[in-house]
Amino acid sequence: MKKTLTKAQIRQAVEEAYAECKDIKGGVNAHYIPFLANVNPDLFGISLTLLDGTQISVGDTEYKFGVESVSKVLTAILILKQYGAEAVLKQIGADATGLPFNSIFAILLENDHPSTPLVNAGAISACSMVKPQGDSWGKWEAIINNFEALCGSRSEVLDELYRSESETNFQNRSIAWLLKDYNRIYDDVPMSLDLYTRQCSIGITASQLAVCAGTIANGGVNPVTKEEVFARDLAPKITTLISSVGFYQNTGDWMYTSGIPAKSGVGGGVLGVLPGLLGVAAFAPPLDEAGNSVKAQAAIKSIMNKLGLGVFNGDTVEIVD
Ligand code: DON
Repeated sequence: MKKTLTKAQIRQAVEEAYAECKDIKGGVNAHYIPFLANVNPDLFGISLTLLDGTQISVGDTEYKFGVESVSKVLTAILILKQYGAEAVLKQIGADATGLPFNSIFAILLENDHPSTPLVNAGAISACSMVKPQGDSWGKWEAIINNFEALCGSRSEVLDELYRSESETNFQNRSIAWLLKDYNRIYDDVPMSLDLYTRQCSIGITASQLAVCAGTIANGGVNPVTKEEVFARDLAPKITTLISSVGFYQNTGDWMYTSGIPAKSGVGGGVLGVLPGLLGVAAFAPPLDEAGNSVKAQAAIKSIMNKLGLGVFNGDTVEIVD
């Protein structure tokens, strides 16, 4: 079906979703990282980026929260750019684990590859692949510059969050060394783990994440800066990864009920991509048991339902002024 949406309709859907969801009380802040446990649980923002660069933002969309696992998407794009889709498939994989984000069981089950760059194991492996090899500072520059290009503005590490994560990341340390034993860490192990921890501790805003989502939806061209950040043929690869495992063991339910490939982080952020149409991000700290923001999920679902959008709907949608 052919469908036309106006920007005013989209703005209204975002505003209504904000109003509907802002008083939702479910969920708790991530408590296994002390810094995150203390973030104000009432913060809430939604931002949406259209492919002509229009941004629609409501609520706390300039608050810098921990990007956490959403960072896995951005660094997956970096290694896709540096190595190509085939090498990433071979060296990490593109399979859903069906298990929690930090599962060691998943690594033991599929010990020939870490499944996907969007769970902790594959994300640590991805950090080990980032070029230039053996150069911690150079690798970090590549990661943070890639963030800047995708989001259209610079981000910095939240130092207190980085310290908090580094002091408590015992499970990730086990994952990194187990992967080393399976020959799936392609650089120094402590360096690769530290890069992963540092990228998770980057402070990001919902409006920056919405621009990043818009860049993926726009086939690699940042809709705000107009820069070509990655090659168009990598866009379906990254959206496939997001749609297969973005909400970990809850991904099928998420896709079924929302219709939009999306990736969550335990800082409370969610980034959603509707290819060829828009990018969306929502942020609210309290999480469900799988580590996904309760309000951000509700808000994005509400927008999708109100506008009748969905990646599998088979509609041709045009957005007009
Ligand atoms: O590795 C961790 O445990 C955190 N730095 C990130 C986990 C995360 O965001 C999972 N996603 N919902």
